[in-house]
Amino acid sequence: MARKMIKYNLMIPGPTPIPTRVLSAMNHDMIGHRGPLFSAVMKEVMEDLRWAYETKNDIFIYPSSGTGGMEVAAVNVLSPGDKVIVLNIGNFGARWAKICKAYGAEVNDVKFARGQAADPKVLEAELKKGPVKAVFMQHNETSTGVLNDVQTLAKTVRQFQPDALIMVDAVSGMMAAPLKTDDWDLDVVVSGSQKAFMVPPGVAAVSISKRAWKAYETAKCAKHYWDWGLMKEEAPKGHTYTTPPESLIFGMREGLKMLKEEGRENVFARHQFNRDLLRTAARALGLKLLADDSHASPAVTAIFPPEGVDGEEVRKLMRDDFNVEVAPGQGELKSKIFRIGHLGYVDSLDLIGAWAAVEVLFKRLGAKINFGAGVKAMMEML
Ligand SMILES: Cc1ncc(COP(=O)(O)O)c(C=O)c1O
Repeated sequence: MARKMIKYNLMIPGPTPIPTRVLSAMNHDMIGHRGPLFSAVMKEVMEDLRWAYETKNDIFIYPSSGTGGMEVAAVNVLSPGDKVIVLNIGNFGARWAKICKAYGAEVNDVKFARGQAADPKVLEAELKKGPVKAVFMQHNETSTGVLNDVQTLAKTVRQFQPDALIMVDAVSGMMAAPLKTDDWDLDVVVSGSQKAFMVPPGVAAVSISKRAWKAYETAKCAKHYWDWGLMKEEAPKGHTYTTPPESLIFGMREGLKMLKEEGRENVFARHQFNRDLLRTAARALGLKLLADDSHASPAVTAIFPPEGVDGEEVRKLMRDDFNVEVAPGQGELKSKIFRIGHLGYVDSLDLIGAWAAVEVLFKRLGAKINFGAGVKAMMEML
């Protein structure tokens, strides 16, 4: 029986650990949300989000989870019957398809093998079949730990259907990996507070290009809460249509401030290093990884446990014996893999500790591994 660990370690791909600075910033009195004080905070958050998104586009903030942000994106540009392509590389790609179908779009659900990124050549072939209103994709697919090449996918859309909207779910990718909204000509980009922003769940943000605003004018999907028209006048004043989640907005301001202090390139380098650290450790034990190196996510890594060990059991025992929360496989990957999140407020030493627990667990379960090899490889990388 393991000694009980008193410290809880959150190692899932969102929500992520929250820095004390962010928690303290959220510990703030409620203030009038239409007054000058709050309006200044909101404007700062929108400006810093533009920095994170690398965009000059409008950015609207909603009290919502990431899925709400995805729904905001879809309902404001689509009409029932619109043809759309969904690049489905995992569970969140499947969610784009479900949302679009729920609002009556005709969805070409282009499914890729789990662990693979969306192939621009396949997209090209689909685009050649006829005009579509929009192409939906993930920046980072959290269920498989795969980073899409959004830049090339976006170029492909512009080459074969210049007017199609490019809709990107960057909920788990934003600030974990580069995403240049304006340079890559992305129309709507969705993010969520609970990932690399290092803030609790509850805020979604969307950026809206001129092309997306044009589509909004004729979009006929039913909507009210999500209607961009209701935010258009409010956002420039630092207001929202509904009551904003003030505590989270204070948290967003601090989280973004921390990211800016660290510097964009350093933030990306940290995420990449932690990804490589974990992949090296898994390989040192002879474990298989779901994603290839070429598309490996800097936010989350999906790992096959050793033969005879169930992914779901790893998750359960990590929690019970070590107080470390890792994520299970989702959908068709349930029980086959386990996932370790390394986005947001996570450092290399957190990962080394978590991986040490993984190795001890495998040993207890009788798996044939080179005990200690993963941790040693990680220490060498440091
Ligand atoms: C890529 C991606 N998209 C969308 C979502 C949905 O976000 P939420 O669970 O906040 O609705 C998640 C959540 O993990 C995600 O990782």
